[in-house]
Amino acid sequence: MQSGVVDLRSDTVTRPTLEMRRAMAFAEVGDDVYGEDPTVNALEEAFAQRVGKEAALFVPSGTMANQLALRVLAPAGSTVVAGRRQHVVIYENGAGARNAAVQFSAVDDIDGTIDPADVAWAVEAASHHYVRPGLVCVENTHMPADGAPWPLDRLRAVAAEAGAAGLPVHMDGARLFNAEVASGVPAAAYAAEATTVMCCLSKGLCAPVGSLLAGPADVISEARGERQRLGGGMRQAGIIAAAGLVALDRMVDRLAEDHDRAHRLAEAVAERWPDAGCDPSRVRTNVVTWRHAAALALVDHLAGDGVLAGTIAPGVVRLVTHHDVDDAGVERAVKALLGAV
Ligand SMILES: Cc1ncc(COP(=O)(O)O)c(C=O)c1O
Repeated sequence: MQSGVVDLRSDTVTRPTLEMRRAMAFAEVGDDVYGEDPTVNALEEAFAQRVGKEAALFVPSGTMANQLALRVLAPAGSTVVAGRRQHVVIYENGAGARNAAVQFSAVDDIDGTIDPADVAWAVEAASHHYVRPGLVCVENTHMPADGAPWPLDRLRAVAAEAGAAGLPVHMDGARLFNAEVASGVPAAAYAAEATTVMCCLSKGLCAPVGSLLAGPADVISEARGERQRLGGGMRQAGIIAAAGLVALDRMVDRLAEDHDRAHRLAEAVAERWPDAGCDPSRVRTNVVTWRHAAALALVDHLAGDGVLAGTIAPGVVRLVTHHDVDDAGVERAVKALLGAV
């Protein structure tokens, strides 16, 4: 964190830990495009095992992992059924259309989940001149819904509906381990309901770069080819994969601290703006959002107090807790929020 500033804009601002920097300095490396980087191979195996999938692929970003899933699982010209506020729908700069030639059948995701009935509707609509769905995509945790983790039963119901229609499921698990820690549902139990699952190492887990996509061996092999096509093949990537191994091994359990701190911030937001839609009981991971008519002005005002916040939509402010913000930082943010206009 920049000294003197409490940076709550995103968990992507986390910097690698000392242990990561050491691991990076001494990482064994090779040319990963030849499949010869032992550290990348170890990271891919560790993640595949952790989420109970046959294989995994290391990629530069969460966006690329999502895009690979779309390209491999959704036929060009099909629709992807997904929540209307999901990252893959609104925050990837139209990549789904440009990279994978799909369009979205965007459904309500108010509590962070999508309704199995909406999946059934999209499937049935193909018999009524609608575009045929090719994939269902869920986000876990769901960032705009205050980082809500999916209830496993709900996910199973969505997966069952997709399965009945022969549709694969992709899980954008950018914050999959926040979901695991908050809900107690193992990442593998979540992943069992999806064909592919992606996870970012570069958010709350503090690695500097990188995400992983896991799934059946044939799907991941196909994704490897697509990664190359998109220019995502990396050479001595073990340097960054080494930090990823530390992330998976050492940084998951501590996410609970971020969740407690987010809850504290949510209480302050709810106290200061009782009608702004912030319900602390719904803040179970590391994201706090609320409505504010002058969102950008509020962000500027908080910055004046040394507290950096962000916006995720017109009139919606966001704070995200992470490893580089401690209790003192949170208390400073609480003070700034309670004193804000
Ligand atoms: C839910 C979700 N999915 C995907 C991504 C994309 O990750 P990246 O920034 O590594 O491309 C993000 C990034 O913030 C995210 O929040």
